[in-house]
Amino acid sequence: MQKSLVSITDYSKDEILRLLQHAEKFEQNPNQPLLEGKVVATLFFEPSTRTRLSFETAVNRLGGRIIGFSDASTSSSSKGETLKDTIKMVSNYADLIVMRHPLEGAARYASEVASVPVINAGDGANQHPTQTLLDLYSIQKTQGHLDHLNIFMVGDLKYGRTVHSLLMAMGHFNPRFHFISPDELKMPNEYKQFCDDRGIAYTEYNELNDNINTADILYMTRVQRERFTDLMEYEKVKNVYSLKNKMLDNTRPNLRVLHPLPRVTEIDEDVDTNEKAYYFQQALNGVFVRQAVITYVLGLIS
Ligand code: CP
Repeated sequence: MQKSLVSITDYSKDEILRLLQHAEKFEQNPNQPLLEGKVVATLFFEPSTRTRLSFETAVNRLGGRIIGFSDASTSSSSKGETLKDTIKMVSNYADLIVMRHPLEGAARYASEVASVPVINAGDGANQHPTQTLLDLYSIQKTQGHLDHLNIFMVGDLKYGRTVHSLLMAMGHFNPRFHFISPDELKMPNEYKQFCDDRGIAYTEYNELNDNINTADILYMTRVQRERFTDLMEYEKVKNVYSLKNKMLDNTRPNLRVLHPLPRVTEIDEDVDTNEKAYYFQQALNGVFVRQAVITYVLGLIS
């Protein structure tokens, strides 16, 4: 069976847990020739370091081949070719398409016109489901489980697609959410409604201070400059939070600081050596999780 991954809600709780188990096996044994003879296209209409390179590492470790572009200005979309035509063409060349696009809904549209599975590598401020799976993997690995955790999400909760996907996935595991953001970047109502509908508790704050002392996971995010239509608004909030090592002194021993990266100023470099900093390992986990997702959508594992 072949199945696109566009939104984290495309997968059931059971599927998510199975994928995390597969990721663990790939971490133990990353080099497996499961993609021999397969071609994977990575189409990145927006910049990326981790997502594209970890997908490509995953394909290489699985013995597959890669085509694609990391800069849409080198593709014929710059001559006016539609997304539909681009996807139909690439479907002729590749067995799987991994796509990042600035428009919300672009990945869903691509999955509808493609004749091969599509994995959403981020569509605007909407969803980033493989980031969510690697976040879940990182949380499970560091906490030993996913249930009943105190999850603090900090920063740009309005435009940050990673917090939107993560909130929906954590909905399976009875979390308590704490949203820390300036008023301009609050968690959108649709996601708070998602929590309300499922009886998931959440609290909203403006300040990043000792309110983090009850956190199990502190999920920091960058203010998403590229999503602002008015850069004056961005200037007002761009440095709103900066986590410093000292601020972790009285936090729980099991606390781990996560960040999808790239970071700008929201985590001071003095945090990097703290044993509670987990963001670089988190990014490494992306390779194993993406190996699991690629082989799953191609029907090579179940
Ligand atoms: N986490 C993430 O999506 O990073 P990149 O933008 O570097 O891919």
